[in-house]
Amino acid sequence: MSRKYNVIWHNTIDSTNSEAQRGLADLENLSVIAAHYQTAGRGQKGNHWSSDASKNLTFSIVLKYGDNILPELRALDQFHVSHLTVLALLHYLSDNGIDALIKWPNDIYVGDNKICGILIEHTVRGDRLSTTTIGIGLNLNQNDFPPQVPNPTSMGLETGHTFVPQAELRNFLDHFDPFLDLLFTEEGRECLRKAYGGKIYRLGESTQFIRKATGEHFCGTIRAVENDGRLVIENEAAAIEKFAFKEVEYVIKKRF
Ligand code: BTN
Repeated sequence: MSRKYNVIWHNTIDSTNSEAQRGLADLENLSVIAAHYQTAGRGQKGNHWSSDASKNLTFSIVLKYGDNILPELRALDQFHVSHLTVLALLHYLSDNGIDALIKWPNDIYVGDNKICGILIEHTVRGDRLSTTTIGIGLNLNQNDFPPQVPNPTSMGLETGHTFVPQAELRNFLDHFDPFLDLLFTEEGRECLRKAYGGKIYRLGESTQFIRKATGEHFCGTIRAVENDGRLVIENEAAAIEKFAFKEVEYVIKKRF
């Protein structure tokens, strides 16, 4: 199925996610708010998302469930929205000659460098999701980044090509749409979960992590991602530990 996405471009805006949230009641389903420049781009954990004007893609896709366009979705299926988004991005990047992986839960990495960040915000009614805003910051043409941004890269740096943001957004949405279908069937969600689990950065490799509750560093090996989104790590004592979002973080050496 190919759905109609209504793309609304802004020259400058605080944050496309914030703009989407403000307009949720009025925006039509599958609206896409995009900006050439964000003055207050939001990242995960309350961080700022920095992106030079007109060089990259910063946009938010609005999903509204339970209408004639998208079926209802249980709140417990929210992890699959993250799965489909990262998989659509990996597919899109691969079609552009870039091999990328998922730094759990939803950063996109090329080697040890971050090319794309995702901020997903849901509204919930009872046990159902009401809306989802999928915010994506994809580095297209930026070559220089502020020093506080850890290990950034861009599609331009990876390929030597220049990308036109408007064209690339349409291109990405063509990749996103078939993955969106998978969200609404049990088999589709299982397919998303399996594909996501196979694309995890440092899967099966001995890796340093930080236990967020204590700040303790430890060495372990990622074995899988659970149905509920938890990361399964085998520690050095060969014990299996499961971590929810924000309970653990990879330690990645900063490039200087
Ligand atoms: C992260 O890696 O911390 C998530 C970054 C998400 C950035 C995107 S840019 C478009 C959308 N609008 C925002 O304010 N944030 C997301």
